[in-house]
Amino acid sequence: MKNNFVLKRMYIFDELSSTMDISKEFIDRSVSEGIVIISKSQTKGRGSNKRKWISMGDDALFSIIIQPPVEKINLIPIVTAYSIFVTLKNIVDEKITIKWPNDVLVEGEKISGVLIENYIHNKLSNTVIGIGININSNHKGQNRFIYPSVSLKDITNQNLDVFSIILKFLDNFKIFYEKLINDDLDLNIISKNLHALGEKVNFRTHYKQLEKNKSENIFYKIISLNEDGTLKVADDDGNITNLSNSEIAFR
Ligand code: BTN
Repeated sequence: MKNNFVLKRMYIFDELSSTMDISKEFIDRSVSEGIVIISKSQTKGRGSNKRKWISMGDDALFSIIIQPPVEKINLIPIVTAYSIFVTLKNIVDEKITIKWPNDVLVEGEKISGVLIENYIHNKLSNTVIGIGININSNHKGQNRFIYPSVSLKDITNQNLDVFSIILKFLDNFKIFYEKLINDDLDLNIISKNLHALGEKVNFRTHYKQLEKNKSENIFYKIISLNEDGTLKVADDDGNITNLSNSEIAFR
């Protein structure tokens, strides 16, 4: 069995612009696979779709660097989200789901987001996985975020230790990443835990085959996760489409 993720070194900072930036610096210096960068705060935390990632407290903000085979990189977002899902499911009793491609929700509110940046050279990818998990920040009654959001503290009424949650995530990620590398990952288990599975939802999509004026507001029923990480959806007439770069809009 190939063992492709060995945690080599962990760096912990009080403040960084973004853990993604320093990860890139490590890659530029050819020091990369197995490095974990944690920061207590970020001045320029970034999210997907050019959004900011703002942490208002004692949350998990970290990046890990891996070198997956290029043919597997499309599955890294969902494997990461699933590792977060498993980590948090051990802490919260509430309904927890994975919002494809890589968010984790509790009762429909976002608790974690993942940002992936790939630096591909020949057949090798240096992949930075940036993870934000709302742990001790207060999200109740906040309107600062585009989507409704929540933290572990909001749910449990307890302050939780950020570092031990990061370590648990790394243990889980190691398991599922190795399964991915060894072609042993059961995507059905992940698929079963998708947010809005079997429901018709509103997609904000940049799906390139659609005309521009139709691209903002499309309804599809979510069928399942495909082997390649794309999302199988159906329109009202039952026509199947596999989405590769879209986002489920919150209802
Ligand atoms: C998203 O849901 O939009 C993705 C959010 C990713 C946030 C994390 S926090 C650690 C890492 N550093 C960043 O600047 N972003 C990611």
